Amino acid sequence: MLHRSWFPDRLVGDRVVLKRHVPGNLAAFMRWYADPEVSRLTRYQDGPMARPEIERFFQARVLGTDSLAMAIHEGASDRLLGTCAFSQLDGENGSALFHITIGEKDAWGKGFGTEATRLMLEHAFERLRLHRIGLSVFAFNERAIRSYRRAGFVIEGRAREAIRRDGRWWDEVEMSILDSDWRAIASAAAGARDAGGAPGAGAGDGTERDEQPLTDPATGRPVDTPTIERIR
Ligand SMILES: CC(C)(COP(=O)(O)OP(=O)(O)OC[C@H]1O[C@@H](n2cnc3c(N)ncnc32)[C@H](O)[C@@H]1OP(=O)(O)O)[C@@H](O)C(=O)NCCC(=O)NCCS
Repeated sequence: MLHRSWFPDRLVGDRVVLKRHVPGNLAAFMRWYADPEVSRLTRYQDGPMARPEIERFFQARVLGTDSLAMAIHEGASDRLLGTCAFSQLDGENGSALFHITIGEKDAWGKGFGTEATRLMLEHAFERLRLHRIGLSVFAFNERAIRSYRRAGFVIEGRAREAIRRDGRWWDEVEMSILDSDWRAIASAAAGARDAGGAPGAGAGDGTERDEQPLTDPATGRPVDTPTIERIR
């Protein structure tokens, strides 16, 4: 169970706002997860979730404290678009798994998912001081893979032929982002901004290096230990 203090009230981006879920969002979940196209991209089982299963999932992992789930709203209209979450938060190892579903299909491919992912990563690395966020995605879900890459995730492996869909086997792609990746991206973006977007900005001026966390010379991994308690 997660400590309440881990939950932000809201995370505000340019085009999306992430807010705590409210019980009234269940109706949208019923619609989203009953959709065959959404379930094809998100579920191991063939076919949508049954209503009682959606309700159990919503109570435990969306409203409850099993996961850190946030509702994705379009900033301009406040329309509820989807949901994103960290599960399996492990304070000792500073890690969590990321999940996202934009349930409103007309909102796919417009940048909302990538922005919501970045807001969650910022919360994970800047506020919770986590070290690693992982996820897995079906290899046929190219839109999701592109969005995760743009947010900073890298492919670290594949579970070969882990899913059968559309009459054939597909790999499950494992992706992750480390706090050091996140800081490198943030520092490169700041360098580019400072230099007015000049090519090569941020490289070789020491800024990027200075903002890196201390690393273990043996592994190259950051050594700052998360101060959060183990929560599962
Ligand atoms: C995956 C998801 C969160 C991505 O959010 P989104 O708002 O649709 O994605 P974005 O618009 O931010 O980014 C999509 C990227 O894929 C590209 N893209 C869009 N449609 C695509 C398609 N049909 N095929 C391949 N790439 C596509 C876009 O060009 C963009 O890449 P770019 O930034 O390099 O140009 C959202 O589509 C979703 O929830 N889908 C259904 C559920 C799902 O798949 N969840 C993830 C399970 S692991």
